Amino acid sequence: MKQITNSVYYTGVLNPNMRVFDVIMRTEYGTSYNSYVVKGSEKNALIEAAHLSFYDGYLENIREVLDGGRVDYLVLNHCEQDHTGCIALLLEEYPDLTIVVSQAGAIYIKNITNRPDVKIQVAKDGDSISLGDKTLQFMNAPFLHWPDSMFTWLPEEKVLFSCDFLGCHFCEPRVYDTNITYDLQYWDAVKYYYDCIFGPFAPFVQKGLDKIQDLDIEFDCNSHGPILTKGGYLGRVMEKYREWSTPATRENKLIPVFYTTAYGNTERLARAIVKGIVSVLPDAEVNLYNIIEHDLAYLTGLMNESDAFLIGSPTINRDAVPPVWQLLGGIEAVNIQKRPVALFGSFGWSGEALPHIAQRLESVKATVFERQVKVTFVPTREDLAAAEEFGAEFARTI
Ligand code: FEO
Repeated sequence: MKQITNSVYYTGVLNPNMRVFDVIMRTEYGTSYNSYVVKGSEKNALIEAAHLSFYDGYLENIREVLDGGRVDYLVLNHCEQDHTGCIALLLEEYPDLTIVVSQAGAIYIKNITNRPDVKIQVAKDGDSISLGDKTLQFMNAPFLHWPDSMFTWLPEEKVLFSCDFLGCHFCEPRVYDTNITYDLQYWDAVKYYYDCIFGPFAPFVQKGLDKIQDLDIEFDCNSHGPILTKGGYLGRVMEKYREWSTPATRENKLIPVFYTTAYGNTERLARAIVKGIVSVLPDAEVNLYNIIEHDLAYLTGLMNESDAFLIGSPTINRDAVPPVWQLLGGIEAVNIQKRPVALFGSFGWSGEALPHIAQRLESVKATVFERQVKVTFVPTREDLAAAEEFGAEFARTI
């Protein structure tokens, strides 16, 4: 069991074998469900719970730290079920505990525990709870990354419990950032986690950083991955978050072209369209991305940052192909309202891919270019010339 400060103990559990998180995120370095006990002179608080599958280890850790002591509060900095899945069981063990959550969290937790008798205390921004000689102060941090997210600050020991913020899916058995063996992999995990979890909420990341910037944090006890320390990586992770969440000042337009191709026909169209775009916007960054060759989170990030983008898909079985739908699966997490988008693709019999993609994009209010390039099987020289002209015409609308 890890004692972090005089009153804070680590009660988290490691999951080194996890490879997919939340259905969509790869977690090649495993993860941990971090949780903590804060022992006050009068009361004890648990910060975060754990995934249902890891309840036994979590409970064992709590019992070891508390050694028969009470749990008065369970603070949940947000309610996602990797941290709340075991709460119904925990309430059987500690039926008198009070769950402390934000206003939005109070609604979620009722539906997660399905227990009308659960005691809930709503923590508003600036509220605090006394544990006797220790205090828990709450700061709302909405959309980092859930609507109910908040931070908890323990001023007497300069410990911030930052929820998922500043964390990552990385199973570090020695718990602290000063003991990381696979450093490159850790930073890869931090960036990927940021892109997937916080990238869509960049303005909220900036606000979150502003909220904690002036705190003299000794330990950032986040919810996944190593605890960050003042002498370790805390400053660097915060700097990286600042950098990644700052809007890029780009002189030239960014127009990525995402496509898949079965026999090279849709790719030929893509190349011709690019020629047309750069004939109108010679300084634009117009790169081709065969979707199956890239990480989807990276492509979604590009889509998010772009000034306009294009999607090309062949039609197979009367639809766009799965990699295109996988890419489009991320569009709810980015804001592409009014973003100019153009579509193209080769097809054999009927060409339903493009209208289906258009429908999906229109559902998130992207501005879908009315003209499309649809070619039967192999594009002719005339088709390629028309695709080039199409690219130029689209470029004039950006
Ligand atoms: Fe780690 Fe948003 O849950």
